Amino acid sequence: PAPLLVLGIESSCDETGVALVRAEPQRAVPALLAHALHSQIAMHRLYGGVVPELASRDHIRRVLPLAQQVLRESGHALADIDVVAYTKGPGLAGALLVGAGVACALGAALHKPVLGVHHLEGHLLSPFLSADPPEFPFVALLVSGGHTQLMRVDGVGRYALLGETIDDAAGEAFDKSAKLLGLPYPGGPVLAQLAEQGDAQAFALPRPLLRAGNLDFSFAGLKTAVLTQVQKLEAQGPEVLQARRADLAASTQAAIVEVLVKKSLLALRQTGLRRLVVAGGVGANRQLRAQLDAACQVRGIRVHYPELYLCTDNGAMIALAAAMRLQAGQQQAVCDYAFDVRPR
Ligand code: KG4
Ligand code: ZN
Repeated sequence: PAPLLVLGIESSCDETGVALVRAEPQRAVPALLAHALHSQIAMHRLYGGVVPELASRDHIRRVLPLAQQVLRESGHALADIDVVAYTKGPGLAGALLVGAGVACALGAALHKPVLGVHHLEGHLLSPFLSADPPEFPFVALLVSGGHTQLMRVDGVGRYALLGETIDDAAGEAFDKSAKLLGLPYPGGPVLAQLAEQGDAQAFALPRPLLRAGNLDFSFAGLKTAVLTQVQKLEAQGPEVLQARRADLAASTQAAIVEVLVKKSLLALRQTGLRRLVVAGGVGANRQLRAQLDAACQVRGIRVHYPELYLCTDNGAMIALAAAMRLQAGQQQAVCDYAFDVRPR
């Protein structure tokens, strides 16, 4: 079979991403030819969170120029594209429809198949684009703004859920705690940065379900505990809260990271697997990476991460997931241009 050129479009939330990958029969991992991203963070920051209607409108403005940029940078023409992939869900319905609409329009115009990709499968496979790609099977820790899951991954499309959050996601815990601390959206990376100057032992915060013996997570209680601490400090005066903010940020991060690390180790123990893959926006967290690296090194377990620029939402992971599925022969691209989205 000839190489396949796959264009990927991501528009599930607040990043518009477009990328082009080439799947070659003799290479296990498709090659990333070009990728382009536009983040809407600056726009949504004014409102303290993502405004869905504004997100959809901005995706519409950005997606075609980004596609043109990707084609220009890769030296390809529109007509070279063999398959168009887009994020089918989960995500914001209106935002998803932009990617689906553009993908189906391109597919129809080019007479090429269109493939809807699960956003989390994109995150899950994104470490395959790193310099040191993993091998199957592995345990995956998927930590994003909307999801926190541990999975057993035996191959492309062969995923078994081992455990997940029963309430908030890890990224959500970062973001909501950051908001309580008065930090700007998106709170995760800002809280992490502030935490670098703080004492992680300063506040005793809960580690829910840590000793439950299962692989589920719960982060809603942590948010409440952070709120209680913020209120206590505030009652002592705004300057007290200001002075202790870094300590509280560090303690919050430590609580989230400890749970993620311990549960990942438990999943590795229970499955007997010796390889861990971390993906999703929270996978960019330096403290999480440092603690996972340390814990896995002493146990002889390999840990793989996506490149930092592929941790948060992007088009490359969508093009990659589609290309790997087609390569594995597990899924035929659909040709009915159905604008199929699944917000949940
Ligand atoms: O995967 P992602 O870009 O979007 C979703 O699919 O949700 O993840 C975004 C999440 C946000 O909650 C963001 O605050 C968090 O990832 N995040 C971080 C860091 N970078 C992004 N959380 C902690 N530390 C970071 N360095
Ligand atoms: Zn995501």
